[in-house]
Amino acid sequence: MGITNLNAICPYFTMFPLDFPLSILEQYGEGAQWVLDPFCGRGTTNFAARLHNCPSIGIDSSPVAVALTEAKLVNTTVTQIMRTADKILSKDIIPDIPQGEFWEHAFDYEVLSNICKIREALVKSCDSEARIALRAIMLGALHGPQSINSPSYFSNQCPRTYAPKPAYAVRFWKERNFKPLKVDILSIIKKRAERYYGQELPNGYGFVIKGDSTTGRVFARVKRVLDKHNAKVSMIITSPPYYGMKTYIADQWIRNWFLGGPDVVDYSTNGQIKHSGKEVFIKELRKVWNNTAEISSRNAILAIRFGSINDRKVNPEDVIKDSLSGTLWEIKEIRSAGFAKKGRRQADTFAEKNKEQIEEIDIIAVKRG
Ligand SMILES: C[S@@+](CC[C@H](N)C(=O)[O-])C[C@H]1O[C@@H](n2cnc3c(N)ncnc32)[C@H](O)[C@@H]1O
Repeated sequence: MGITNLNAICPYFTMFPLDFPLSILEQYGEGAQWVLDPFCGRGTTNFAARLHNCPSIGIDSSPVAVALTEAKLVNTTVTQIMRTADKILSKDIIPDIPQGEFWEHAFDYEVLSNICKIREALVKSCDSEARIALRAIMLGALHGPQSINSPSYFSNQCPRTYAPKPAYAVRFWKERNFKPLKVDILSIIKKRAERYYGQELPNGYGFVIKGDSTTGRVFARVKRVLDKHNAKVSMIITSPPYYGMKTYIADQWIRNWFLGGPDVVDYSTNGQIKHSGKEVFIKELRKVWNNTAEISSRNAILAIRFGSINDRKVNPEDVIKDSLSGTLWEIKEIRSAGFAKKGRRQADTFAEKNKEQIEEIDIIAVKRG
């Protein structure tokens, strides 16, 4: 930990470990220019690029992913973050507070009221690096396991990686008589600001786009910025959603609410890659690879981590090979990435147990032509 702390500012379901993009940068990144992740999630690739002194671009259709990735690139300090939080909380305003059984059980009322104050201020404007950092700190602290001695989260007992569905959560808390704690929001923010922004880091540089990577529109924006720098992407390190995994917004509905979304579960899958059939999914991936080829330099590297989920098993190697066929990307190497880490949700009380583990693979391709 230390210099890599910032990467853990907020968990993200299906995130890959920092070691993956770091090892790719280590192996192929000499002289790398811009690094891109078209499915950036929590911005692990962007953070790895920062550690390698490379500028980076992140694209994701989920607002939570975009907010977290932006926070991986900001240059700010603990003092600036705390000044921002203090200033917002000291304002004499009455925020909109969501109502209903879930919210009554999820947070202590005063804590929720302060969360809402910060939410309103940041939804209205998140134009400084300190605000972007504070927003990600809030997202990371919103929900997770309770601790009476050293509280680190604002919520009643919750998983940290994904948001539980309201009816299930309320039943869970009632059956166990779990109550939300009156935690000190500012001291949690401070502890987290020190952990994530208290270290000296290489300068963060790059940009993040909220959008659908299958579309040319998003890549036209990327190209405009790259053209200004007279640059091309020399490395793409990414992990697309596994076939069938399309609940990124619903699974993060509390964090999505904090960013200005609805205070109920949002089941929309807008902007998510289409999963209506394996062939459709493969075609969608191909669009992304074609889009990335257009803004990449000759001999650029594309590194993909891919696997499969229990509910819709597919052979990950076949899916990626098919999606790359007919593109400018030529496969150089396919290797096992081991098994998706058991226990990603293990620490959580809501954990799903006894799910079969599926092997993940890393595919390395080179741009020809
Ligand atoms: C496997 S996750 C990426 C995790 C990331 N590697 C990390 O470490 O956090 C896949 C991401 O793709 C995003 N996504 C799905 N469809 C997309 C699309 N069409 N365009 C852009 N992003 C998309 C999801 O919102 C999700 O954040």
